[in-house]
Amino acid sequence: MFITRLIYCSELSGVDKDAITNILQVSRQKNAKAGITGMLLFNGVYFLQCLEGSRDAVNETYHRIVHDNRHSRPVLLTCEELSQRDFTDWDMAYVPWTAEIRSIVRCFSVDDEFDPYKLGAQSAIGLFRALRDRLPDNEFWSKPLQTA
Ligand SMILES: Cc1cc2nc3c(=O)[nH]c(=O)nc-3n(C[C@H](O)[C@H](O)[C@H](O)COP(=O)(O)O)c2cc1C
Repeated sequence: MFITRLIYCSELSGVDKDAITNILQVSRQKNAKAGITGMLLFNGVYFLQCLEGSRDAVNETYHRIVHDNRHSRPVLLTCEELSQRDFTDWDMAYVPWTAEIRSIVRCFSVDDEFDPYKLGAQSAIGLFRALRDRLPDNEFWSKPLQTA
């Protein structure tokens, strides 16, 4: 079965940004069972998420996610076959919005504001790798911290 990576963005809708705690808890449980790894970036308004796993599992998960009414306007940035994963250790790493994150995001953006709808696929992939490589493991990844 092929390894597939899918990246999409969307916008928080109809719920408070504290909903992220529940989203992450359920996501991690389900992803662990489905062999999905990845990362979720959230700035309090927009989501940018990378899902990696078998083609079937990524498809099934993405279809579930796009029907979730806690967000809207899902846009697929890329979906492709991979020879290896970028996020082997994380059922769903969570990156809350901080000054440091903002400066990393700025390297991949056309302007100062984080707007994933303006992000090219290669920039999105580059951004996820930069976040993975430049942020400390233990602090950020597993805890749902403050969102803005
Ligand atoms: C921004 C966002 C990201 C999500 N990421 C995942 C994810 O990585 N994996 C997952 O299983 N569910 C994820 N969910 C939750 C799903 O939409 C869904 O609520 C959950 O999988 C439970 O589905 P079920 O009630 O049909 O079992 C996400 C939801 C949102 C709004």
